[in-house]
Amino acid sequence: MLRADQAPTTPPTPGQPPHPHQPPPLLTLADHERHALEVLDGPTRAYLFGGAADEITLAKNTTAWRALELMPRVLRPLAGGHTRVNLLGRTLPCPLLVAPMASQRLAHPDGEHATALAAAALGCGLVFSTQASTLLEDTAGLFLTEAVRGPLWFQLYLQPDRGFTRELVQRAEAAGFEALVLTVDAPVNGVRDAEIRSGFQLPPQVSAVNLRGMQPPNSAAPGQSALFNGLLHHAPTWSDVEWLLSITHLPVLLKGVVHPDDARQAIDCGAAGVIVSNHGGRTLDTMPATATLLPRVVQAVAGDAPVLVDGGIRRGTDVLKAMALGASAVLVGRPVLHGLASAGAAGVAHVLRLLRDELEIAMALSGCRTLDDAPGALWAPGPSQ
Ligand code: FNR
Repeated sequence: MLRADQAPTTPPTPGQPPHPHQPPPLLTLADHERHALEVLDGPTRAYLFGGAADEITLAKNTTAWRALELMPRVLRPLAGGHTRVNLLGRTLPCPLLVAPMASQRLAHPDGEHATALAAAALGCGLVFSTQASTLLEDTAGLFLTEAVRGPLWFQLYLQPDRGFTRELVQRAEAAGFEALVLTVDAPVNGVRDAEIRSGFQLPPQVSAVNLRGMQPPNSAAPGQSALFNGLLHHAPTWSDVEWLLSITHLPVLLKGVVHPDDARQAIDCGAAGVIVSNHGGRTLDTMPATATLLPRVVQAVAGDAPVLVDGGIRRGTDVLKAMALGASAVLVGRPVLHGLASAGAAGVAHVLRLLRDELEIAMALSGCRTLDDAPGALWAPGPSQ
């Protein structure tokens, strides 16, 4: 059990009420969220945890997983069960990866280093953001020392300067990253009203250190759209995906693919997988929840490549439901930042541990010995069940 002030601590004696001056125990991801909201200032909260515009997609992501129902099967042999999955030629201890998230030193001074240590120790994967606040070589070095670790992937935002982008890819390859995750759903930031209203600005000690030395893109001429005639000149297109595939030996997954035709095109042009994501509700508001989008992408990809999903995963039951809908693994975003803000590496480890434990319990109670059994755990009203 992790307490809000320090992690980990001794659980209370069974039958004894907790000491009145002790903060309440952190037992769930929602507890970590509440605690993170208490310890961070308003602008930082708005940046880290907010969504775009009216935050409709942000809210839908969590409610859609909750709305799916599970249908347990009983009396099945469960001994020897496990949460292992195969992904891109490797067997992973569990189907959890930390989603790429920028500027983690806003949540805790140890930032991405703490997240990497915790994810590696828990056997979870790590997707490291282009906009991270620690050097990619340093964080990779920490993650790669752990024997039971999950996969280490580098999330790439194509930079206006393709030469700079190529060097970034080469640095990631040299540092030991095992795949690239090209994020394709954010050619521009969403309309992040909460963040703007709060006056959020990156403090001087937190910056995208891996992008140092990059030249800013050319701005639009007077009278032209700053967006369409400026920033979007450099936004990635399908030909950039082909270019990326041609300059790296690493597998490339596309993150932020939600239309089945885009998913099919991604695999046909050589992507090693797709990640169904709406950027955690931070880009285009009123998109459907990822739980709603996932099945059609899985159908379009038809088993030719892994399909991962993120957005709104807050319980082990959510992970089981994602696997039941055909995901190969899931990425977890904000809960990791909640744990990080709560208690650094110990907080992240606790969040990931809770999810793993809850997943095992959900599997056992649904009658799933392994995650191959997950599809049978989903309630589908009709004569077949
Ligand atoms: C993100 N996300 C993100 N995605 C990405 O591809 N590159 C990035 O640098 C970031 N940065 C980022 C910062 C913060 C503060 C958040 C909350 C999110 C999106 C992230 O990878 C993921 O898609 C969502 O966070 C998943 O939703 P949940 O789990 O946060 O609900």
